[in-house]
Amino acid sequence: MFVRTAGDRDLAAIRALLVETWHATYDAIYGAERVTKITDEWHSTASLKTKMTRPNSEFLVADDGKRISGVAFAEGIDGGELVVLKQLYVLPGLQGRGIGGMLLDEIIESFPEARAIRLEVEGRNTHAIAFFEANGFVRSGDAGEHTGAAGETTLVYHRPLAG
Ligand SMILES: CC(C)(COP(=O)(O)OP(=O)(O)OC[C@H]1O[C@@H](n2cnc3c(N)ncnc32)[C@H](O)[C@@H]1OP(=O)(O)O)[C@@H](O)C(=O)NCCC(=O)NCCS
Repeated sequence: MFVRTAGDRDLAAIRALLVETWHATYDAIYGAERVTKITDEWHSTASLKTKMTRPNSEFLVADDGKRISGVAFAEGIDGGELVVLKQLYVLPGLQGRGIGGMLLDEIIESFPEARAIRLEVEGRNTHAIAFFEANGFVRSGDAGEHTGAAGETTLVYHRPLAG
């Protein structure tokens, strides 16, 4: 398994991974219909392609040589002082094998100047919250609705970095 920068040739595989992982993770929270609407919008190949060229950002995939098993996207803001982790997703069947940890480590190494990393996670996504807390993140606030799903609170987590 290795982590590398995503390229145009990965777009279809990244979209398929995000659709499968979003349904597995969020159908129980938002319902399958809403998840389909969100992934059609957010994870279209056109929308994913724009991320490939976003300045001060990293778009990474975990690749085992045969298929893409995980994806991560993050952007540096505030002059590079803060990294915002926007996406971290591992195929449902491959979770719990260290892939998410590898992608997170690579994202952090990609922003050596940063003093902290920030992310938002759904309050009911207890599995991801446990992962982030196990990897040094602490809750630092609420961000209100994330995808407009009424009543769903999004939590903000931070982790200080050596930077
Ligand atoms: C959250 C997610 C990215 C974590 O990736 P993963 O590959 O499953 O996690 P890893 O196997 O790399 O876990 C790394 C370490 O985190 C810790 N960890 C992982 N999941 C954990 C959990 N549920 N509870 C406690 N600790 C956990 C463990 O310490 C683990 O290290 P170890 O296996 O050496 O003990 C992945 O499970 C996922 O894609 N979930 C669905 C989508 C999602 O919720 N993404 C985040 C949206 S904000």
